[in-house]
Amino acid sequence: MLYIGVDLGTSAVKLLLMAADGSIRNVVSKEYPLYFPHPGWSEQKPEDWWDAVVDGLKELTAGCGKEQVAGISFGGQMHGLVLLDGKDEVIRPAILWNDGRTTKETDYLNRVIGKDKLSEYTANIAFTGFTAPKILWVKENEPENFARIKKIMLPKDYIAYKLSGTFCTDVSDASGMLLFDVEHKCWSEEMMGICGVVREQLAAIYESAEVVGTLKPEVAAQVGLPETVKVIAGAGDNAAAAVGTGTVGDGMCNISLGTSGTIFISSDRFGVDKNNALHAFAHADGHYHLMGCMLSAASCNKWWMEDIIGTSDYGKEQEEIKELGENNVYFLPYLMGERSPLNDPYARGTFIGLTMDSTRADMTQAVLEGVAFAIRDSFEVARSLGIRIERSKICGGGAKSPLWRRIIANVLNIKIDRIESEEGPGYGGAMLAAVGCGEFPSVAEAAEKLVKIIDTIEPEPELAAKYEEKYRKFARIYPSVKELFGQL
Ligand code: XUL
Repeated sequence: MLYIGVDLGTSAVKLLLMAADGSIRNVVSKEYPLYFPHPGWSEQKPEDWWDAVVDGLKELTAGCGKEQVAGISFGGQMHGLVLLDGKDEVIRPAILWNDGRTTKETDYLNRVIGKDKLSEYTANIAFTGFTAPKILWVKENEPENFARIKKIMLPKDYIAYKLSGTFCTDVSDASGMLLFDVEHKCWSEEMMGICGVVREQLAAIYESAEVVGTLKPEVAAQVGLPETVKVIAGAGDNAAAAVGTGTVGDGMCNISLGTSGTIFISSDRFGVDKNNALHAFAHADGHYHLMGCMLSAASCNKWWMEDIIGTSDYGKEQEEIKELGENNVYFLPYLMGERSPLNDPYARGTFIGLTMDSTRADMTQAVLEGVAFAIRDSFEVARSLGIRIERSKICGGGAKSPLWRRIIANVLNIKIDRIESEEGPGYGGAMLAAVGCGEFPSVAEAAEKLVKIIDTIEPEPELAAKYEEKYRKFARIYPSVKELFGQL
């Protein structure tokens, strides 16, 4: 049988067709626009996602025996607020995970309601990108829209709803709403009260590999697939990527270098970072995880390459970088503010340390290193909790660069394992579909059978020591300029 994984990302949706033996039969990508209507705001149209998914599904399955397709599931960008009215019309553009407009609402939640209470109700505190502060923002700034809300959804759940007609979400994605009691895997009555929403406006909750329905007949006809195709709940993109890289079970780690950068630590038990710098979320394997998320990772490199120096040949630019560990230019990668561990929507991107002999290659290198140092910040929080990480998987667009992988291995001073399939969330989505359809008894067994490590990057002691020193310097830059950011 064949399984479809839909990775509903921020720049594009990637669809992947996987056979039961784990081999990838086809991959299709469809882009859609991203809107920044004000500095720090970030929106997309759910209708664009849907059009891209419909086109993508047709193209993905054009050459395969359609009756072979058994299931479809998702890894979706997290936290986005999708609002539907009584006629199932989208009320306003979705407010995305990297949108920073909710500083007031986030402050209200963290200071007035209080971090202790939030953590007691949900295992997390408020960050501007989380869903609950966005609901409060709509309530305050767009009361006419707030009054029309019948359904509150996350991005991938909008696609599951369009495909199956089931108003559903899964435990991993629900965890990022700040409306969900992560430990007990149910909606928090307290948070619903604080946000002014009622249970009927929130989706039914499923484990990630559970079947939520089958394709609606009209959708099946539209995309050319049988009505029997099962729709499986899926996961937030990071949990799906963790499944796709085999980061399931206790104490495993995955780093994702996508638009965002994340460090994901899976755990068999529920646990909370006492300072809430790392998110405590449910995992798609039925257990839990801790996660640090930086808002701009591979997107910093994309910005630097395409918007600033005007090239699409990333490889050629990186060839100019001769020596690692000697660069005196530093880059703070906070182009959209920063989430973990700074929780500072006012933080900004910064180059520092430039001299007359600094080169374009030094600046390119500073961008790659700055992202690695910022990931190290979250890594340090995990260490401070007593979590020992000696190796990690890696995925996402940025992970395709051998140079960046080497930088990450040495900045973190850990082994980095590369996986055969680099399609983290899409592959994880297809694996969840396979589990949901009964191809494998559990997510852990699917990971065990399907995920293969093809290469390990070892840290180099001399280079790791140089980076240790450089990280200490990097770590002093943000505190020195932090006050200024608020005034810019
Ligand atoms: C995770 C997060 C991002 C998005 C990116 O908390 O906000 O990784 O899921 O799609």
